[in-house]
Amino acid sequence: MTKFTVNDRPIQYRMDPETPLLWALRDASNLTGTKYGCGTGDCGACIVDIDGQSVRSCRISIAACEGRFVTTIEALSTDRSHPVQQAWVAENLPQCGYCQSGLIMAAAVLLKRNPHPTDEQIDGALTNLCRCGTQPRWRAAIRRAEKIQAGEEKVAAAPPPGITPEDAARAVPALRAVATKPAADGVAPLATRPPAEQ
Ligand code: FES
Ligand code: FES
Repeated sequence: MTKFTVNDRPIQYRMDPETPLLWALRDASNLTGTKYGCGTGDCGACIVDIDGQSVRSCRISIAACEGRFVTTIEALSTDRSHPVQQAWVAENLPQCGYCQSGLIMAAAVLLKRNPHPTDEQIDGALTNLCRCGTQPRWRAAIRRAEKIQAGEEKVAAAPPPGITPEDAARAVPALRAVATKPAADGVAPLATRPPAEQ
């Protein structure tokens, strides 16, 4: 059994110790914000923070994580208010979004370790691949995150993703009953449930 901490919670994985961390996070912990891109350590879509280091989770086994502290994109903030997330939205950086959680984690680790990186240090820390071509905006976004982190600028957190149950019911008639009917098990109908934390 492999034990370590994920997003401030102690976890014991009953999996083959050689399982890549990426698959333990995604398949066992349902932390699907960490993405699979290449599996060869090249793209960076799977980057997580391990003990303050940017690590490609497809290339490290859970055995190698024993006793360590892993942070994924889900724990960067609960309301998209981390300086890097705010800067990414303000600079309109993401496109399809697939590579972004790994990129954001790499940026967050960089700014935690070095609040004022040089251009060369930014280029050295962000070696991710992005097929949408967002690379030209990375330095500007890091500069903006630097200011937000230093308290020199405030940017409103991004609105929650998705649509409300009422909107979903309008678009898909079959959902109307689910959105409004009281559940037999005492669980509140979708329309009255508070939004899930992200
Ligand atoms: S999936 Fe890990 S580096 Fe691409
Ligand atoms: S935003 Fe689409 S791959 Fe990077």
